[in-house]
Amino acid sequence: MTRKLVDNASIHTPVDHGRPAAGPHMGELLRIERGAMLIENGLVARIGDSDEVRAGLDQRTVDEVIDAGGRCLVPGFVDPHTHLCFVSPREEEFALRLTGAAYLDILRQGGGILNSVTAVRACPEEELYRLTRDRALSALAHGTTTVEIKSGYGLDTDSELKMLRVIERVGRSTPLDVVATFLGAHAVPPEYQGRADAYVDLMIDDMLPRVAALGLARQCDIFCEQGVFSIAQGRRLLAAAKSLGFAVKIHADEVHDLGGAGLAAEVAALSADHLLAAGDPGIDGLAAAGVVATLLPATAYSLRKPYARARHMLERGVALALASDCNPGSSYSESMPFVIGLAVLQMGLSPAEALTAATLNGAYALGIADRVGSLAPGRQADFLLLDGKTPAILAFHAGVSPVDAVYKRGELVARP
Ligand code: NIG
Ligand code: FE
Repeated sequence: MTRKLVDNASIHTPVDHGRPAAGPHMGELLRIERGAMLIENGLVARIGDSDEVRAGLDQRTVDEVIDAGGRCLVPGFVDPHTHLCFVSPREEEFALRLTGAAYLDILRQGGGILNSVTAVRACPEEELYRLTRDRALSALAHGTTTVEIKSGYGLDTDSELKMLRVIERVGRSTPLDVVATFLGAHAVPPEYQGRADAYVDLMIDDMLPRVAALGLARQCDIFCEQGVFSIAQGRRLLAAAKSLGFAVKIHADEVHDLGGAGLAAEVAALSADHLLAAGDPGIDGLAAAGVVATLLPATAYSLRKPYARARHMLERGVALALASDCNPGSSYSESMPFVIGLAVLQMGLSPAEALTAATLNGAYALGIADRVGSLAPGRQADFLLLDGKTPAILAFHAGVSPVDAVYKRGELVARP
């Protein structure tokens, strides 16, 4: 048994009450000013006031004492929505968008996501692995200890499986916990232009069963948007995915309010993501169904769109998660501190609400809140030491990483 004691820390963590923290509960943190945490074999054994944690503890049985020096200690970030598995960022397209081209128009003309598909199809698996691993390690250095990574730049069976093998290998070969999501429904591939339903059939008949049989992903996602996949196609694909045991999520109401949030509520999705254009019926549906709304402010920032209505969603009782959406086109940042800064300064979340969204509710958006996303006895000792005394430093110290040290299952894995 390995025992470690983190002492002299200003601890801030959400508390898991068995469901995503929604509405007013998102701002409720456990705060311990002079706190300590005892870690046994990578799991939290005790957490609380320093004197209480140390009471009756035989110091000779502790292998290492980590003095936090009064710094803020928070759970490692859970980033529940990324597209980290790609070849290169689309800089030419970014330049086009700066001169006024619209994201969906670029896709309609065969660019956008489809450019990244051409690159991923041609990329040797080893190289794609190296590129994805290095991005995941950069996310880790910025405090992300659990990350979701989607496929979706293959769009044929072999290339999608290649991406999912790469994603699985990144999970095995880095300190991060990696959750893979099958996103074959990211765009209609060139071979199926004008035949989106036939491509949905291919996913249902061939891709999903193979992904399930190989155990390469347990979540399935779809981009429901004008000119991409319809709500009816989403309903069909996600029903098939659920019958194979996949949990489901939706890129919902990002540019147009198609009713993606409503579909997420209808199919009891783990999360509905984006929601920049979501209307009130969709938002109320998420609250009633207990579906997490995963907001991606770095995407609104990069696309220069109005941010999702976070405060309104909170008032309606929705549980919010925050994610980077890191991808080669619409949002190119793997930094959760940057995302938290946008959430606080541009969407009006309090630092406490943003922390809950970036940890506990992110874990709920992935169905793994019993292991990560909060610090309590039995949970993984995934935590960060920050260069300040409260989580507000994450939003305040802009443009640099306020993360001093990253621990995964009690081990120091990054000191940026
Ligand atoms: O979540 N909106 C669709 N998919 C991604 C963007 C992917 C890309 O542009 O490569 C998103 O923003
Ligand atoms: Fe996305």
